[in-house]
Amino acid sequence: MMIDTQAILDAFQFRHACKEFDASKQIPAEEFELILEAARLSPSSFGFEPWHFIVVQDKTLRESLKQHAWGAPLKLDTASHFVLCLAMKSPFLDADSPYLPQFMREVQHHPDDIANMRLGFYKQFQQSDFGLTDERKLFDWASKQCYIALANMMTVAAMRGIDSCPIEGFKQQETETLLAEQFGVNLQEYGLAYMVAFGYRKHAPKAKTRRAMAQVVTWK
Ligand SMILES: Cc1cc2nc3c(=O)[nH]c(=O)nc-3n(C[C@H](O)[C@H](O)[C@H](O)COP(=O)(O)O)c2cc1C
Repeated sequence: MMIDTQAILDAFQFRHACKEFDASKQIPAEEFELILEAARLSPSSFGFEPWHFIVVQDKTLRESLKQHAWGAPLKLDTASHFVLCLAMKSPFLDADSPYLPQFMREVQHHPDDIANMRLGFYKQFQQSDFGLTDERKLFDWASKQCYIALANMMTVAAMRGIDSCPIEGFKQQETETLLAEQFGVNLQEYGLAYMVAFGYRKHAPKAKTRRAMAQVVTWK
């Protein structure tokens, strides 16, 4: 498979952090499925897929998110689709959790001996290599994987002429409390990594600014 160079560059130039969407335009269902598929197929450490996506289309729920999400109100009002990305916590990701052996059997189709071996590697990775020794470090590590899915969703959207905006402009603790109260999220199991809005731009974007290649890459 080979995608034309110009088509790739065009998609990356097209993608920008869209501040306001045209509220009259809806992303067709099959196009949004494709964006979610890009998230689902994203790579993750050990292949643990430490994410869950909530697509918030309900107006009242969108309204409720505004109170603690200073970076989101205009997007909540105008986006065709609005996504919350939850990152898994220790009930799923602790090396001793009962979830992981089950996941390795049922999803990854590993036989017991391979699953046990991989779990051993993971335990060492978690406890010494990466020192994911407290809930915060584990959540941040899971969130890193979630951001790979974010990039893939935004790139695929751009390839289809769909705009997006990643959003970290929210009070994490307050928003998570709201998610527990109004979205039924279990905060023992999940934390909020980011929000991302999708739709069609209302205004032309500003010209892109980036450092030169020589400033961001060193060859040795
Ligand atoms: C993780 C992340 C969080 C961001 N949070 C917000 C946000 O809350 N509100 C917003 O308007 N833009 C947000 N942005 C957009 C950035 O400001 C934008 O990507 C950056 O300035 C580069 O501009 P460009 O994406 O248009 O090329 C965020 C971007 C990233 C990657």
